[in-house]
Amino acid sequence: MKEPGDKAGSSILLQALDGHVPKRTPIWMMRQAGRYLPEYREVREKAGDFLTLCYTPEHAVEVTLQPIRRFGFDAAILFSDILVVPHALGCPLTFEAGEGPRLQPVTDADDLKALRDDLDPSKIDRVLETVSRVRAELPGETALLGFCGAPWTVATYMVAGRGTPDQAPARLAALINPDFFEALIDRLVEASVGYLVGQLRAGADAVQIFDTWSGVLDPESFRRWSIQPIKRIVDGVRAQVPGARIIAFPKGATLAGLTELVLRTGVNGVGLDWTAERRATRLALGGRCALQGNLDPLALIAGGDALDRGIDALMEDFHGAAHIFNLGHGIRPETPITHVERMVAKVRGF
Ligand code: CP3
Repeated sequence: MKEPGDKAGSSILLQALDGHVPKRTPIWMMRQAGRYLPEYREVREKAGDFLTLCYTPEHAVEVTLQPIRRFGFDAAILFSDILVVPHALGCPLTFEAGEGPRLQPVTDADDLKALRDDLDPSKIDRVLETVSRVRAELPGETALLGFCGAPWTVATYMVAGRGTPDQAPARLAALINPDFFEALIDRLVEASVGYLVGQLRAGADAVQIFDTWSGVLDPESFRRWSIQPIKRIVDGVRAQVPGARIIAFPKGATLAGLTELVLRTGVNGVGLDWTAERRATRLALGGRCALQGNLDPLALIAGGDALDRGIDALMEDFHGAAHIFNLGHGIRPETPITHVERMVAKVRGF
């Protein structure tokens, strides 16, 4: 076991990403700023639509800080969305109430040509301003996480123009028109490198790459469309920001897939969804990177014994490992706040 290093300072989350076992388990939640919080709903209403909220630093800073004030999490995550990247590449985007995102589909080389090569600074600079303003307001021991979507996951929304049950439109495009699909992935890799470097330079302490849809890929496609682009992002970011701390969240990946991803990309941490085999994952990857996760978001809705037992089992399986407590996916809007309070108290009590 390594001793906590100086580089991570007082942040126990950064200590875990540096491979140390902190004195207590750091905790944050995916989607921790969101509709389950009344104070979020209030700002959301004031801002108007969701994208306006993402692009208005004053409001985005406020909702980023809300869960820190309420629960004292060990990390804040920039309030934005993974689809800001296609939007800033020039792809029209709207969020319909209750329906999720709608993009103008990008399905062939001509559609791709119509997009920008770089991210529109008039959009992205506002997100970067949010990052630096949040960093200035956060306590030193609270880490600030930036993020982007993995190219595969962002591409699935761009090709279909929306979320679909198994992202068949993107999988089909990759099979029928691999040259187009590769060019789309390349564009997203490049944009994501610049975006993450911008966030790190603006004050993010680490970044997470969300690959929400990696679980729909067969092993060969997972290598090509999930691992390889993430590796290119990791290498590209670290070429400009040496030692950048990066977490990958390949939702639905198998243990073989997770292992290959960690070994090939050299990420500092890997996010596990709630289906992960924790002990086998720890045997395979413990000591190589921090393990983040993986409480079932439904256990947090259920509360009571189901919640208590879920947390106990999780803490026991990762006891003594470089572990970052999180959910296995984002918190859902119907989750009672009292259950979040109970979870935080329990994790802090171990
Ligand atoms: O984690 C955080 O608190 C930071 C903010 C964040 C959001 N989205 C805010 C958001 C992050 C990191 C994301 C990532 C994201 N966005 C992903 C990857 C992670 C995951 O959850 O799978 C994906 C696939 C998206 C795309 C997206 N954005 C969808 C499919 C939706 C609609 C579904 C929904 O929950 O409404 C969004 C909207 C969205 N992004 C909301 C929030 C708080 C809800 C918008 C609202 O306030 O109405």
